[in-house]
Amino acid sequence: MTTKPLAVVILAAGRGTRMKSALPKVMHKIAGRPMIGWLMETVESLSPKKIVVVAGPDMPGLEKAVAPNTTVIQDRPLGTGDAVKAALPALEGFSGDVLILMGDAPLISAETLRALIEVRHKNDMTEMAVLGMKPEAPNSYGRMVLNPDGSLEKIVEFKDANVSERNLKLCNAGVYCIAGERLKGWLAQIQNDNAQGEYYLTDLVDIANQDEAVCHIHVTEEPDDVRGVNTRADLAALEKDVQQKLRAAAMENGATLIDPDSVYFSWDTNLGQDVTIEPNVFFGPGVEIGDNAHIKAFCHLEGTNVAYSTTIGPFARLRPGAAIGAGSKIGNFVEIKNATLHEGVKAGHHAYIGDAEIGANVNYSCGAITANYDGKNKHKTTIGKDAFVGSNVTLIAPVEIGEKAYLAAGSTITEDVPSGALGVSRERKQANIEGWVDRKKK
Ligand code: UD1
Ligand code: CA
Repeated sequence: MTTKPLAVVILAAGRGTRMKSALPKVMHKIAGRPMIGWLMETVESLSPKKIVVVAGPDMPGLEKAVAPNTTVIQDRPLGTGDAVKAALPALEGFSGDVLILMGDAPLISAETLRALIEVRHKNDMTEMAVLGMKPEAPNSYGRMVLNPDGSLEKIVEFKDANVSERNLKLCNAGVYCIAGERLKGWLAQIQNDNAQGEYYLTDLVDIANQDEAVCHIHVTEEPDDVRGVNTRADLAALEKDVQQKLRAAAMENGATLIDPDSVYFSWDTNLGQDVTIEPNVFFGPGVEIGDNAHIKAFCHLEGTNVAYSTTIGPFARLRPGAAIGAGSKIGNFVEIKNATLHEGVKAGHHAYIGDAEIGANVNYSCGAITANYDGKNKHKTTIGKDAFVGSNVTLIAPVEIGEKAYLAAGSTITEDVPSGALGVSRERKQANIEGWVDRKKK
């Protein structure tokens, strides 16, 4: 393996026209994580000296997503060749290999990149290496034309290709490893006299050959990993693949998925051992599930920590900041947000807990809610351990309920309740008016 220093350039300035989106293409998510995030993790694992992301103007979200790495701006999307030019000032003073990737092909593996870098060092003459692939559907990918000795002669973009070139199965995956000292001179020679009027990075191959440099290819055995996303349908296809991998990994690591295809994971979902997940469960980012937890059907979880031996659902919604204590039981149509529940809490049905701390073994009955928001600010509800919250109790926060206190069903609780007390606030005496219905009918 080469020991040359490495710089990485990721192209992400394209408008992504085919996505028909206001969001930069590389900020679209796969398993809850922007495409660019997948790619950054992979290239960081190669320990490059520098990572430069080429963004378009007005992509502040992208700049933030890749910080503290360098972002450079390509003012107008004049093509992939022009985009790399925009990165040159950021590479000033760097000497070594430059690895160029397309931001819209996010699932490439570090092994494939290492193999490509190795090909670039095949021999002293090889000053450029390009990643090839043989996808099942070559669609509109650029086609690779080889010399008789197997080196790369040129890449022809689909729109510029003639019939026989279009029939070539070997496609350009859009990943390049180039001797850094050659890059600037070669980029300067790219013209835009082609079908799309763009400065194609792919022209570097021809330019390198004219310069008597040799260009070799590495053909990946994982064409699925280098697929690009140009449309929403492409995005869905990658999502599908990633979900299959996440499901397989979950089962591999000791979780039971009754119907794996109906469970959707986030890239960072963390499951303990012997977790059971029933059908139709969705995990957003930031979920951690402890050992022996049972997630019943139709739950939606994000930003949540579920401790061991808990039962969640069916039909529960756990929102960011929910922490569910060990052995708790959260039932159907219960929503929990920004709340810590200690161990053994029971909230069995139709309830809302927001901005709260709920002590151990609290029983939180059907229809109880925290009224945590006054239209302007959020307020906290605290409930001591072993307390009992009756059905349909409204806790008007901020409010504090002592240990072992009882809140009578139907109460609207606006004031703190001391430990061991019964808090009751409702019309206590029920009036039954005999014969009322018959009199009304007359
Ligand atoms: C490109 C390749 C094609 C290859 C395919 C692999 C060229 C000319 N073609 O085609 O051979 O098969 O990738 O996926 O390189 N970008 C910029 N600035 C621009 C234009 C594009 O930063 O001015 C970025 C885009 O944001 C995107 C990437 O470069 O992340 C690729 O651009 P895209 O237009 O999608 O190229 P393809 O047509 O897919
Ligand atoms: Ca593309």
